[in-house]
Amino acid sequence: MNQPPVARRSPLRLATTLIAASLVAAGTAVALATSADAATTLGASAAASGRYFGAAVSANKLSDSTYVGILNREFNSVTPENEMKIDATEPTQGQFSYANADRIVSHAKAQGMQVRGHTLAWHSQQPGWMQNMSGTALRNAMLNHVTQVATHYRGQLSAWDVVNEAFADGGSGARRDSNLQRTGNDWIEAAFRAARAADPATKLCYNDYNTDDWGQAKTQAVYSMVRDFKARGVPIDCVGFQSHFNSGSPYPSNYRTTLSSFAALGVDVQITELDIEGSGTTQANTYRNVVNDCLAVARCNGITVWGIRDTDSWRASGTPLLFDGSGNKKAAYTAVLEALNSGGTTDPTTPPPSSPGPTTPPPAGGGACSASVTLNQWTGGFTATVKVTAGASAVNGWSVTVTLPSGTSVTNTWNAVATGSSGSVRFGNAAYNPRIAPGGSTEFGFQGTGTGPSGTPSCAATA
Ligand code: G3I
Repeated sequence: MNQPPVARRSPLRLATTLIAASLVAAGTAVALATSADAATTLGASAAASGRYFGAAVSANKLSDSTYVGILNREFNSVTPENEMKIDATEPTQGQFSYANADRIVSHAKAQGMQVRGHTLAWHSQQPGWMQNMSGTALRNAMLNHVTQVATHYRGQLSAWDVVNEAFADGGSGARRDSNLQRTGNDWIEAAFRAARAADPATKLCYNDYNTDDWGQAKTQAVYSMVRDFKARGVPIDCVGFQSHFNSGSPYPSNYRTTLSSFAALGVDVQITELDIEGSGTTQANTYRNVVNDCLAVARCNGITVWGIRDTDSWRASGTPLLFDGSGNKKAAYTAVLEALNSGGTTDPTTPPPSSPGPTTPPPAGGGACSASVTLNQWTGGFTATVKVTAGASAVNGWSVTVTLPSGTSVTNTWNAVATGSSGSVRFGNAAYNPRIAPGGSTEFGFQGTGTGPSGTPSCAATA
């Protein structure tokens, strides 16, 4: 089911490798500096950690040479921005129209890029005939659409956004009211089952916006649906986080917790429509944080930006993308490339020590950190998010010990390394997150069967 990430070598990297190979062949000792070996494009640097870096693409811009030049050079995945939507692919009921979407798929294939399909079932951008339908007729029309379009692209896509934006905004945690929702609450799982039957090899995603903040009701509602789908065997493989950030919908500091919490349910997570309004260093730093958050989550397997140049954006006035209107790289581009090349292990504000730390942690120093747990619990299982906070001094390594109730076991851990799985369980920092600035914090999480822990865990600085 998983398609391998696309790894394409830049000419510079290929040349560097060939020079190195010939020097080695000549018996010359070669020590390539890390910076010289760093990938020089977004796609290649993402591929170095098994991920993709994609862009939303419009078919009508494939004749724009600046646009296509950047696309072909930088990206190894594409998402058709509008061309696979319902109004584009089935403008008249039963008559399917794939010309524009196929142009994008052909372009991507010729360039060795992956394609994310977007989207099979959505309340928006429905053709007129579908907008006017309801009940069983609409349910059957939706399922036929999913089946036909997924069959047309069978085996050609890396992922499908099977269902898009099905939850309401605000604090209700309810489904969005729509003609599709009114066909019955099971419309989402019905769409996923139809997509799996038509195209068994493509990852099937649920995709939404305003689901980035772990504390929001909408995020929790989607999380509960995905957990339920996994528990009942509904075929879902991934969750897309659109991540359109601006002052009204800012990047949340718990974004990494959101990504890792969903990943812990056993799905891939993907950042699917990233754009960040702003400019300069502020914008660049937010892009860097987003990339680092994805890199910190093993199952965050790719990032897509929603357009190439600022002028290509649906929110062009917010200049939210990585290239300016002339196609020049912005500070945000450099921040993303640096973050990808760092492999996510480098916090730009707290660079790691230049020498490797001790391989065996010294005894706990105690007192230099504290930990608190937030639980998300259901019958028979839970996920725990643990916030580790440094005291007045920086922490260079930490360990948190959690006492679990009898009968409870840890089944999965992220952003920490667990020793033991029941009783008293020690969670030490992962290789990439030992350092916490004075007064700062980091988060890790674990999933378990049984009942989650109560009380406050102990925390100790180990370095
Ligand atoms: O192509 C017609 C053109 O012929 C016509 O003259 C013009 C007049 O308005 O409209 C053009 O179509 C527009 C289309 O984009 C192509 O540019 C539509 O009006 C416009 O509504 C449509 O907007 C798209 C929007 O989805 C619709 O919901 C944006 O391009 C697209 O970026 C946006 O993408 C969505 C994702 O699918 C889901 N998540 C949110 C994201 C941003 O809104």
